[in-house]
Amino acid sequence: QAKALFDRNILLIGFMGAGKSTVSACLGKMLAMETIEMDRFIEEKEGMKISQIFDVHGEEYFRNCESNTLIELRSKNHAVISCGGGVPLRPHNVELMKKNGYVIWLTAKPEAILERVKDSTERPLLNGHMNVSYISSLMESRREKYSAAADLIIDTTGKEIVEICEELLQKL
Ligand code: S3P
Repeated sequence: QAKALFDRNILLIGFMGAGKSTVSACLGKMLAMETIEMDRFIEEKEGMKISQIFDVHGEEYFRNCESNTLIELRSKNHAVISCGGGVPLRPHNVELMKKNGYVIWLTAKPEAILERVKDSTERPLLNGHMNVSYISSLMESRREKYSAAADLIIDTTGKEIVEICEELLQKL
């Protein structure tokens, strides 16, 4: 079953702290596939951290970087791609993602998300909003967009990374 995946990208989407980066690293190892983190890709290209890009250029500029990155990544066909949490917000991005591979939505309870992101200084959208009610409402406002993009949904709450990867491979 895993063999069939080799000619398709796997794209991970979901809220900040849903586990996209750690799961993609683990999946990449298990499947011997290249892993690409969109945020890191953008940071390298721009020569700045994500938070600096937001400060210097603003969110809209960053969203354009995301869309451009998706276009660049069209040439990939054998990678695990961890998308930034906001990538599915633009319908055109969703189209590009769906064309580019299998889209997996990682979810988690807001309480679990808070636990994972609370010490992060690299998430400009959560600056000054590190609480469950803000996270819940931002998650809720994105739910439909994530859902529209997803081929498969995996809840990561309370699960180990390897467990999540195994569940994912079983369901693919
Ligand atoms: C964002 C998520 C972040 C990063 C940026 C915006 C979002 O990525 O791209 O801070 O809008 O949800 P992670 O989901 O990897 O934290």
